Amino acid sequence: MMKNYFQLKYAIVKQLILVVTGFAILISCNSGKQQTDLTFNKEIAPLIHKHCTTCHRPGEAGPFNLITYKDVRKKAKTIARVVETGVMPPWPADPEYTHFVGEKILTNAEKEMIVTWVNAGCPEGKASDLKPAPIYPEGSQLGKPDVVIRMEEPFTIPGDNRDRFMVFKIPYELDRDTFLRMVEYVPGNRKLSHHVNGHIIQYDDKLKKDVFVGPRYVDREDAGTLDSCYKFLKLLNDDETYPLLTPSVFNFLPGVLPQQYPDGIGGYRIKKKGAILMRDLHYGPTPVSETDQPHVNLFFSPKPPSRPFMETQLGTLGISEIVPPLLIPPDTVMKFVTKALIYHDISLVTINPHMHLLGKSFLAYAITPQADTIRLVRIPKWDFRWQYFYTYPTMLKIPAGSTIVAEGVFDNTKNNPNNPFSPPREITGLGGSMRTTDEMFQLILTFLPYFPGDEQIRLDNILPGQTGLE
Ligand code: HEC
Repeated sequence: MMKNYFQLKYAIVKQLILVVTGFAILISCNSGKQQTDLTFNKEIAPLIHKHCTTCHRPGEAGPFNLITYKDVRKKAKTIARVVETGVMPPWPADPEYTHFVGEKILTNAEKEMIVTWVNAGCPEGKASDLKPAPIYPEGSQLGKPDVVIRMEEPFTIPGDNRDRFMVFKIPYELDRDTFLRMVEYVPGNRKLSHHVNGHIIQYDDKLKKDVFVGPRYVDREDAGTLDSCYKFLKLLNDDETYPLLTPSVFNFLPGVLPQQYPDGIGGYRIKKKGAILMRDLHYGPTPVSETDQPHVNLFFSPKPPSRPFMETQLGTLGISEIVPPLLIPPDTVMKFVTKALIYHDISLVTINPHMHLLGKSFLAYAITPQADTIRLVRIPKWDFRWQYFYTYPTMLKIPAGSTIVAEGVFDNTKNNPNNPFSPPREITGLGGSMRTTDEMFQLILTFLPYFPGDEQIRLDNILPGQTGLE
């Protein structure tokens, strides 16, 4: 009797151990029921390193590292979920509608590999199969800059757990007027820097004595309109006229390489007196105060730009009216449309759809005079955190007489988890206000006047080190 009792007890303990270890595997790597030959070291690590580690590494925007087997196994179940649902890697543009340079997408086969591997219990595989994770350059991704313009004082990001949208200026004075080939933004705090659109303000020597006057930044919640923001930051000329703005010289988002262009395409003429205008610098929420002191790298060109970019925008503050006017009553889902006629043939280079927190979906296309549709971009599920400047793999010709159409759907109901108000309130986008809780509906286009052969110019195969820079 005694013997039985002991054996039985031992058996129970053993089973318990099995259950406990089984459970530990279950929470990270599912049941291990599915059979697979896939291993981390051979098939999964290259996928993670290619598609995830750019952001999921120390100091970057991803909330945890995804580099080693241990990192990935610990998060395996969540990884399977975000990969399957397409939440990660973040790329809101629908690849079935249009392709862009540097798109962050997994093919269905790749998604399935990751999910199968997680369901099979995350087998690690042979150590000899593992290729080391890539090494990422610190500082510049493009080479040695000619001039570095640094924010003069570090900015303190308060630890109040909210998203923050800042307008910054970094004034500078060079020794002469010159030509720029590229501008690169390098964040000081990669973890919290979520996105930045950079412009250059150019001053005529006669119209602005001192570019270094005035405050350096304003929180967008306090900025009011763009006009009052210019006045507050003392960005206007001495006679209160507007200085020249060279738009979109850089657009930073975590994990995005600065876009480079073939010789002769793009580039800027700049005056020696100017200011970098960052509108906006979006910082993610943090529970503890942190600082950021970014810098901007200027790469000069010996030649004036032969085909400088042009930029225009549809919708808010742009060339085309929004129909109906952008006013979104509470508890409604509403669609707005804006259209612009193109008078000359253009070669479209990048496209940037822009909405705020109520955005639900975005669609843009062109209708040619022959009534053909040219697809521009489709964002089925708007995510205000991932607002890319999408670059076409080859320049896209839009013939004269085409109409560019943008359709934006806004969700001002309580079902929108990003709705800043509960209960929902009437939201306006009428005043050109810059507040995040007000709305905007914009489509920004970067283009060149069309030249025959532009359709053949590839923009997706220029790697760092291939631009003629040292
Ligand atoms: C462009 C940068 C970037 C890339 C590339 C990226 N991530 Fe993320 N990831 C983030 C950021 C930032 C967050 C934090 C949440 C947010 O801001 O959306 C995040 C959050 C996550 C989360 C947590 C989600 C949750 O619901 O808790 C997982 C899991 C994840 N990423 C996995 C991946 C995997 C797997 C890949 C590659 C297939 C990947 N990420 C690629 C930036 C990135």
